[in-house]
Amino acid sequence: VAEDVPPVTLYARTIEAVADYVKKNNVKRVVVMTGAGISTAAGIPDFRSPKTGLYANLARLNLPYAEAVFDISFFRQNPRPFYELAHELYPGKYRPTISHCFVNLLHKKGMLLKAFTQNIDCLEREAGVPGDAIVEAHGSFATQRCIDCHTEYPDAKMKEAISKKEVPHCAQQECGGLVKPDIVFFGEALPEAFHRNRSLPAQADLAIIMGTSLTVQPFASLPSFVQEDTPRVLINLERVGGLGSRADDVLLLGDCDEGVRKFADALGWREELESMWEKA
Ligand code: APR
Repeated sequence: VAEDVPPVTLYARTIEAVADYVKKNNVKRVVVMTGAGISTAAGIPDFRSPKTGLYANLARLNLPYAEAVFDISFFRQNPRPFYELAHELYPGKYRPTISHCFVNLLHKKGMLLKAFTQNIDCLEREAGVPGDAIVEAHGSFATQRCIDCHTEYPDAKMKEAISKKEVPHCAQQECGGLVKPDIVFFGEALPEAFHRNRSLPAQADLAIIMGTSLTVQPFASLPSFVQEDTPRVLINLERVGGLGSRADDVLLLGDCDEGVRKFADALGWREELESMWEKA
């Protein structure tokens, strides 16, 4: 072979070939890894998309830098910008997307080993995926507590504070510390559940990475824990995280709902998926 011919990365697998692999190998240990891109179709902005991303639209909060809104030391000084934003992001107003329903369909078919999500919108749960099948690596709005004494704060009082854009303070009189939802801020440790489950990608017989820029560690390392000979499917607007570097990688670049529909077509699950989404 002429020396100067660039190595052609043979994507040994198309999505149809992955669907064949799923059927032929009785795949049942699928690990899904998702980010904000699977919730944009629900109306929740992602973080880093150039025009529409959250970080491009926080100017009104006069932050020193965009990610400060989720930074624990900035929050201690000034919790107001976060509570402005929380009012918009708070779960309950949004419906799961067809991508969330696809994760639930994998679960219903007994094929989901674990769904790792970076999202705080709880839409995987709302799509029907049971809590023990999900690792909310960056926490969620589901619970909240005082950042000083860690006393849990009542849900009803939190909902009220968020709807009024008020900053809630600790229920313990003598404390009075700031209350924050159990979302992992920059500068905070990830939940123990993330560390307990981080060996699962190595046990997967199929990995599906959807709607994430894979820019935030340690979540961004998960795809690299998947075994070399296990297919990794990226469903994302852009190529990220070194996906495509392995012969068994498949890149479905474009809108994730369309990519999921294409995958469902190849699996023969399209009707089931669409009817599940109608009911979501
Ligand atoms: N279809 C497919 N891909 C999409 C879509 C869509 N409809 N919308 C956005 N994307 C892609 C973007 O191209 C980008 O690659 O999803 C990715 C979203 O990346 P980010 O906005 O960085 O979101 P995410 O990866 O979840 O961010 C990770 O950063 O701010 C922290 O803690 C926060 O969990 C968040 C973490």
